[in-house]
Amino acid sequence: MSLQQQLTALKEEAISKLSHIHTLNELNDLRVEMLGKKGTLTEVLRGMKNLTAEERPVVGSFANEIRDLLTEKIEERKTYLEQAALRSTLENETIDVTLPGKKVHLGTTHVLTQTMMEIEDVFLGMGYQVVDGREVEQDYYNFERMNLPKDHPARDMQDTFYITDELLLRTHTSPVQARTMEQHDFSQGPLRMISPGKVFRRDTDDATHSHQFHQIEGLVVDKGITMGDLKGTLEVLVKRMFGEEREIRLRPSYFPFTEPSVEVDISCFKCGGTGCNVCKKTGWIEILGAGMVHPTVLEMSGIDANVYSGFAFGLGPDRVAMLRYGVNDIRNFYQNDVRFLEQFKVKE
Ligand code: PHE
Repeated sequence: MSLQQQLTALKEEAISKLSHIHTLNELNDLRVEMLGKKGTLTEVLRGMKNLTAEERPVVGSFANEIRDLLTEKIEERKTYLEQAALRSTLENETIDVTLPGKKVHLGTTHVLTQTMMEIEDVFLGMGYQVVDGREVEQDYYNFERMNLPKDHPARDMQDTFYITDELLLRTHTSPVQARTMEQHDFSQGPLRMISPGKVFRRDTDDATHSHQFHQIEGLVVDKGITMGDLKGTLEVLVKRMFGEEREIRLRPSYFPFTEPSVEVDISCFKCGGTGCNVCKKTGWIEILGAGMVHPTVLEMSGIDANVYSGFAFGLGPDRVAMLRYGVNDIRNFYQNDVRFLEQFKVKE
């Protein structure tokens, strides 16, 4: 067989093989087999060295034609196979856009978050800033700067989880008072802040105690702040949260960081003061602790207690939510039972 005949045979063989190829892998194998360095075409062209000088260019250009032709055919087949693959994917993966969609289950903010946001709103409206504290706090800020030196007996009321001797899970949000006071620049105006967040105590959990709960600290410091300001402010809060008819009552109490200190009660929102289960027949419900910032606390934060005065309060949003929604066990807030939580879905 002459070289031309061999080349023609090779071309025909390749073309007939091509039509039986159905995958890109097979196609690549064929290309290597025919046109590769060790492929059939190269093999045939080795025979060129036996040709005469006149024959060589003729056979050479014929060989080039065949190589170009085969390259082109292989490309064509490749395009065809790729399109076929795409077509079959499209056919198999049809989506019926007219089918009804799957409902996305939307969660909701936790009822405590909702309560805290509502309280924040009340204070933002009165020009307070909302400050973040830290849950892991220094003994120094949590106790000492709140006028509770080491060995102070009132520390017992707030036993907590210690990380080291000097580092603990904060027992109240009051350390944020000290941190905010020492940063405040009174030339920019009075200090008015609230600080919501988690607090921790080494309590045995029961229906009204949880080792983790929430507080919202409030603090106002300026020249001439009085207990009247405290009472008026808390009245605004209580009326917004529990209804316009609510009244408040201040009872003497004790906190090391306020002087005088008070316990604040609201008139019962259920019976209006005549006595029922919610207020334990007293007509009043205790909701927070408060007082005038102790001069020592002001001084420790670098504020002249002869010039400035302030009030502070600590409110428990868990308790507010329990009262408002009639939740009788604080642990419900922390157990993450969707059946409980879904009752407090925010309405769109
Ligand atoms: N920190 C106090 C507590 O946790 C509450 C409080 C805050 C009282 C601010 C007075 C002033 O019991």
